[in-house]
Amino acid sequence: MALKILSVVGARPNFMKVAAIYDAIKEFNQLSPREEVHHVLVHTGQHYDANMSDFFFNDLELPKPDLFLGVGSASHSEQTAKIMERFEGVLLNEKPRIVIVVGDVNSTVACALVTKKTWCSAGGGAESYIPSLAHVEAGLRSFDRTMPEEINRIVTDSVSDYLFTTEESANRNLAREGVAQERIHFVGNVMIDTLLRHRAKAKESTIVSDLQLSNGVGAKPFAILTLHRPSNVDDKETFSRMLEAFLEISSRMPIIFPAHPRTLKRIQEADLADYFVDHFMEGPEPWDSRVRIRLIPPLGYLDFLSLMSEAKVVLTDSGGIQEETTILGVPCITLRQSTERPVTLETGTNVLVGSDPQRIVNEFAKVSDGKMKRYSSPKYWDGNAAKRILKILFGDFCPERSIRTFPFDSGLKSTELSQS
Ligand code: UD1
Repeated sequence: MALKILSVVGARPNFMKVAAIYDAIKEFNQLSPREEVHHVLVHTGQHYDANMSDFFFNDLELPKPDLFLGVGSASHSEQTAKIMERFEGVLLNEKPRIVIVVGDVNSTVACALVTKKTWCSAGGGAESYIPSLAHVEAGLRSFDRTMPEEINRIVTDSVSDYLFTTEESANRNLAREGVAQERIHFVGNVMIDTLLRHRAKAKESTIVSDLQLSNGVGAKPFAILTLHRPSNVDDKETFSRMLEAFLEISSRMPIIFPAHPRTLKRIQEADLADYFVDHFMEGPEPWDSRVRIRLIPPLGYLDFLSLMSEAKVVLTDSGGIQEETTILGVPCITLRQSTERPVTLETGTNVLVGSDPQRIVNEFAKVSDGKMKRYSSPKYWDGNAAKRILKILFGDFCPERSIRTFPFDSGLKSTELSQS
């Protein structure tokens, strides 16, 4: 019988991570004499707008989710509770052997808790069991417990059976928290698997010329801004001070700002629209000296990857973008006080500046003067993380059919499969 694995997606940053796992399972099944892994994809519906969800399924060639829970937006408690309630029914019906959750969003923690509290009946007189829980991107810590994502990470890790990590700091954090070594697996970064896989396809995107940023042979210098953390956008004073810094930067080069729905709402509520031009409504020449911050809707995966690859600099408060820019070799100015991804500071292109306007402008000045940090690719961010995950899970659950004949072995040196 095929090994049944159920993966959960809910919010935008989850789609790229599960896409890598889905692709690895698909390839494994194709290379095997029969379907070895039966994969079920569940979408909680935490993100539901076309440009926050559907576009990603198209770009990443992910199949339609097998189950859609339609929870939508609500307060943290209400959203988490709704996901838990609906996911319990899914588990009881589907009876997977393994549940995979990724990242640190509310869908991650909600489904993790349900998985470890639900007994599935095996049928045929076999004993009931609790599915195994695998957390992909385990062990990251910002040490800022006011971030909802930090709470989600700590809780999810504390109940997971398999903790798949992306960087050495995560291995150390988990060891310090008392997690047994045999549960920690340093496999690399599934989001980077997806980036490397889609890089060539992203080159076909026309977004750079659509935004009038092309000079015929390449891209003119431009910056990208993404901002959605409550700590940056919920307080009008903090948000306006940062906008003053971005405005100053926009006099040096155009800033393209694909705005998250929560940020758009804050701009309207706080009456901050004067800082922006609606790129597509007003369509100004980007080199117009009166150009302000250029607001566009959230982009799909391939367009955003293409834009990021061509940018002179990225200003962001996202977690994943700190990692993607490190692999693309694009300077990243992170608008937060802390990062749960320290490897991007140590070996990558990332610098932390917080929300202080002077620090933002100073760091931008360094980058635009060509003072670029030296960088290198973090260990195991090589496109094989999802295959390593699958090899470990399949090896544990189907030892009789596994390791010796595992079809990925030629591409995966055994030394790459290290535990911390
Ligand atoms: C969530 C994640 C965050 C991640 C971000 C990426 C949590 C705790 N946070 O934050 O870690 O970086 O996704 O985008 O899970 N909205 C829409 N349409 C949508 C989705 C959201 O209009 O498709 C609006 C709603 O008004 C909603 C607000 O955005 O209330 C916030 O959405 P929510 O999913 O609660 O959190 P994010 O800020 O997106």
